Amino acid sequence: MTSRSEHLHRDAYIDLIKRGITNYPYLGGDRSFEDFRCVTHYDLEKGRWKIDSLARPFTLLTKSQLDLIEQAIGSLQERGVAGDFIEAGVWRGGAIILMLALLRAYGIAGRKVFAADSFSGIPKNVRAINDPVDSWSDRWAASLDEVGGNIDRFGLLDDNVRFVPGYFSETLKHLANEKFSLVRLDSDSYDSVETSLEYLYPLLSAGGITIIDDWHLPGCRMAVMDYRARHNIEDDVREYDGNAYWVKNQDYGFPALP
Ligand SMILES: C[S@@+](CC[C@H](N)C(=O)[O-])C[C@H]1O[C@@H](n2cnc3c(N)ncnc32)[C@H](O)[C@@H]1O
Repeated sequence: MTSRSEHLHRDAYIDLIKRGITNYPYLGGDRSFEDFRCVTHYDLEKGRWKIDSLARPFTLLTKSQLDLIEQAIGSLQERGVAGDFIEAGVWRGGAIILMLALLRAYGIAGRKVFAADSFSGIPKNVRAINDPVDSWSDRWAASLDEVGGNIDRFGLLDDNVRFVPGYFSETLKHLANEKFSLVRLDSDSYDSVETSLEYLYPLLSAGGITIIDDWHLPGCRMAVMDYRARHNIEDDVREYDGNAYWVKNQDYGFPALP
């Protein structure tokens, strides 16, 4: 049994991690953490940050989107859904840092966190045409060294993290013997999201959770719809702060939203 004060310490640690990876203390200004979006510091037209590179956040996710990860992991623990966690598309590693912190804070043993990325940015689509992502000048590249270093800065670089470096079309097939309970897809383009689903969704346990980060991007949404249609997936999709998620096999129920 965890005591009330242990819960308070755990929640305070996780809250601090969320503030740290978004760099809210430095970038937040007058906004509350709930309303803060680091992308307001990003020049979409020029495709570059309006802030010094040292001040860049470790994740693009909002507090709510980070809360959704915590809620999903809590629900997987509660329902005893087996499998590791994977994010395909990690950029500077902030969401991976949160997942590792959650393992530590909740005392979760026997689950690993997989970080899959080219560590050189989003490749151009091969199969999809007219995906707006192809016109982005910024490919959201962060090297493996940088991501490892970022995780280390938070004191979380240990055996719980497994890096999967390279393009999804080459790397994800080598995970065929793994089992996942959480699959978080954050790779923006039609091709990348579709490839991730092809390789990773069959490895997701029943009752496992898929989170799609880029539900607002037409290529990503189309990739998800195409995949679901092709595989007759009818589990309800829910939206939360611009992310979409669903539970594999509806009879396992939905986790409550944060
Ligand atoms: C928007 S960023 C991810 C943001 C990150 N999840 C966060 O917490 O802010 C997209 C990432 O997807 C990766 N990516 C996109 N397509 C890929 C592919 N086909 N293979 C490997 N990595 C890919 C890019 O390298 C980039 O790091």
